[in-house]
Amino acid sequence: MPTAIEEFLRAYSPVTMAREVANETQINGCTFKAGEMVLLSFPAANRDPEMFADADKVIIDRKENRHAAFGLGIHRCVGSNLARLEMTVAVEEFLKRIPEFRLTGPVTWSEGSVRGPRKLPLTFA
Ligand code: HEM
Repeated sequence: MPTAIEEFLRAYSPVTMAREVANETQINGCTFKAGEMVLLSFPAANRDPEMFADADKVIIDRKENRHAAFGLGIHRCVGSNLARLEMTVAVEEFLKRIPEFRLTGPVTWSEGSVRGPRKLPLTFA
């Protein structure tokens, strides 16, 4: 379960943040001017093939998984361990009540800086 939860966080990273540039700087040849906004796409970082083997595959027993779903650095999510606990309880309780299920149609997702599935058509016995 712990590796599956980390993999769901990596593969479906729900949160993207932004920052305002304080001082002009260059990263990889790209200039960032003071006052500009920069999107920190943690979801894209988490699918970086240089960081993760088979980055687009959801591998629930992935051994190495240094994902950035909770951000990086000084503003890293303070609720990360509560979030992990909540996810674990939710998945465990779902599987207890609905052990057999399958997708019956396309999943649709919300857009924006906090995202998640909006339609998840399932069938179960
Ligand atoms: C799956 C659930 C969650 C995800 C994916 C998530 C993700 C994130 C991300 C990406 C950041 C921004 C990091 C940055 O700006 O560098 C953040 C910040 C934060 N999160 Fe979460 N979070 C989750 C749940 C929670 C929960 C349950 C709490 C509190 C009970 C929480 C409290 C916070 C707070 C207070 C910050 C701001 C920290 C700061 O600016 O110093 N988060 N979170």
